[in-house]
Amino acid sequence: MDAASAPLQIVLRKLFLVSGFIALAAMLGISALSSRSIAQPLVDVVTHLRLSAATGELAEFPEGRGGAQEIRDLTQGFNNAAKAVRESRERLTRAYVQFVGSLAQALDARDAYTAGHSRRVSEYSCAIAKAMNLAEDDLEIIRVGGLLHDLGKIGISDLVLQKPGRLTPEETELIRQHPVIGKRILENVQGLEAYLGIVELHHENLNGTGYPHGLKGEETPLYARIVKVADAYDAMTSDRPYRRGKSHAEALAVLRSVSGSEMDPQVVEAFALLGDQRKQAAFAGSQSLRSLSEAVQSEIDRAVPLAASVTTAALEVVAREREAL
Ligand SMILES: [Fe+2]
Repeated sequence: MDAASAPLQIVLRKLFLVSGFIALAAMLGISALSSRSIAQPLVDVVTHLRLSAATGELAEFPEGRGGAQEIRDLTQGFNNAAKAVRESRERLTRAYVQFVGSLAQALDARDAYTAGHSRRVSEYSCAIAKAMNLAEDDLEIIRVGGLLHDLGKIGISDLVLQKPGRLTPEETELIRQHPVIGKRILENVQGLEAYLGIVELHHENLNGTGYPHGLKGEETPLYARIVKVADAYDAMTSDRPYRRGKSHAEALAVLRSVSGSEMDPQVVEAFALLGDQRKQAAFAGSQSLRSLSEAVQSEIDRAVPLAASVTTAALEVVAREREAL
């Protein structure tokens, strides 16, 4: 029997051996794949979290990630938390910008002659930045930075700030502190770093004779060089108790006379191309006045036929009453 079944036993032994090896290899392969499908997403998650911890930015995980359901739940939970943190940070920044903007307005209101100065500087600066084809993000920095540029004057006494006569060297030195005071107010607030350059450096001159640091040329960021031109223009064209404001042409001539020494020539020329900004503001005002008067006129046009028909009806009633009498 053994001799007869020997070949079959050899074949069967080989078959069991081969199928055993195949099953073992398949099992190893499947377990390697399945462990990889769990381990790799975990490695990705840990790497992402480490990166977030290192940068302080809670970057969200990409949508539609694979991996086990638990890992998807984990990344989704992280994304929700990151979104909530980001939104609350944005809300906080907006609230702070509004608060500081109100402070800037209050600062302008301390002196009737500087009322609206920060708002106008912000508007003129944005107009220049648009003329220079700056990106939308840059415009936003310039808009808020322009609003906040003189924030540091909060720390300077009214007696010095509103002194009508000539300032003593000590008082001049005190006023020259306002860019640094403004920077100190803002620098401790996360999210407002972008405006620091404008607040601190809007009195630097191109030739290095400005303050507080005496920076030269492009050492002063473009944002601050733009706000400087807008600031000087508004200061020159605004009335003061002791002098009338210059005309647009006169102010532009002064800006051009210091273009290249104090002011950035590119910025001055971009501003010159815009024309009289105050006229444009007045034009915008007249546009809204015109639309208001058009609205009133259309109301009158609508009301007149109505009044006429009411009057006609009333007259008819009176006539009928008379006939009846
Ligand atoms: Fe200033």
